[in-house]
Amino acid sequence: MTDQTPPVPAAPAAPTGPAAPPGAPAAGPAVVGEGREWSLDELADAYAYPEDAASARHGAWLRANMVSSLDGAAQHDGRSEPISSAADMRVFGAMRALADVVVVGAETVRLEGYRPARAREAFAARREAAGQGPAPAIAVVSASLNLDFSLPLFTSPLVPTLVLTGAAAPPARVREAERAGAEVVVAGDGPGVEPERAVRALAGRGMTRQLTEGGPRLLGQFVAAGVLDELCLTVSPTLTAGDAQRIAGGPSLAVPSRFALASVLEEDGFLFTRYRRISPV
Ligand SMILES: NC(=O)c1ccc[n+]([C@@H]2O[C@H](COP(=O)([O-])OP(=O)(O)OC[C@H]3O[C@@H](n4cnc5c(N)ncnc54)[C@H](OP(=O)(O)O)[C@@H]3O)[C@@H](O)[C@H]2O)c1
Repeated sequence: MTDQTPPVPAAPAAPTGPAAPPGAPAAGPAVVGEGREWSLDELADAYAYPEDAASARHGAWLRANMVSSLDGAAQHDGRSEPISSAADMRVFGAMRALADVVVVGAETVRLEGYRPARAREAFAARREAAGQGPAPAIAVVSASLNLDFSLPLFTSPLVPTLVLTGAAAPPARVREAERAGAEVVVAGDGPGVEPERAVRALAGRGMTRQLTEGGPRLLGQFVAAGVLDELCLTVSPTLTAGDAQRIAGGPSLAVPSRFALASVLEEDGFLFTRYRRISPV
């Protein structure tokens, strides 16, 4: 076996290397590391979207950003925070700052208490140069529209929050979403959203740099529909056991979808991996 890891751009922050427990074999070299903290600009450069996102398949580039424990858990006690870290949040923030839109499942919004994306000074010039507004829009995917529309996510975002749903969504809930200030986008003929239609509907609004933050039920549908271009997976050096969801759920694919490693960064044992779909599908 040979090491096929592409040249890696180094770590986002000072990787110190964990102390080996007594009696443990000597650790191998760290995967990456320049031994310093990366600036937000460097992170933004490392995670830049392809220049031609609009000409990608489905008219947009869809990236997912997820964190998983070593044993595959996508959450602990119903949240991802216990398996995340400060560096993970830094990378998470940089990815948000590059996106036109953050697509997220309604259950994640309900459980994680989603708030509107904020404008960040560190990324303001970059966003302006890219023709983007001050912050990405949040697009919540929901069939039931069972969401608290009095929350700031809907009433006071910098850019209007979108609600992606199906044509059979409850009309009263649609009206409530719109009254709160959200833009309701129909991207399916039934109660639910069809993943490819959602990607295209957002692209049609000029949102071609797309980021999904899950959760697993939503990501599984993007994977199954073959519309995911890139997976940014943080491998968290934690074990949880139990029966937590993996990062993507739902029915399994007939044939596993193949991705190629694009980069790996490391800090404090957290691996920040980036994989791109191998084309053609
Ligand atoms: N590890 C990570 O990186 C990560 C990231 C995100 C979330 N999480 C964790 O994952 C858990 C939540 O994820 P989850 O998989 O249970 O839920 P989810 O994917 O966030 O949301 C599921 C909900 O989204 C809506 N939905 C999904 N697909 C739809 C479609 N095709 N059409 C219309 N609506 C659709 C439905 O909402 P309605 O019920 O409103 O119809 C559904 O109940 C939380 O514990 C969270 O902490 C982890």
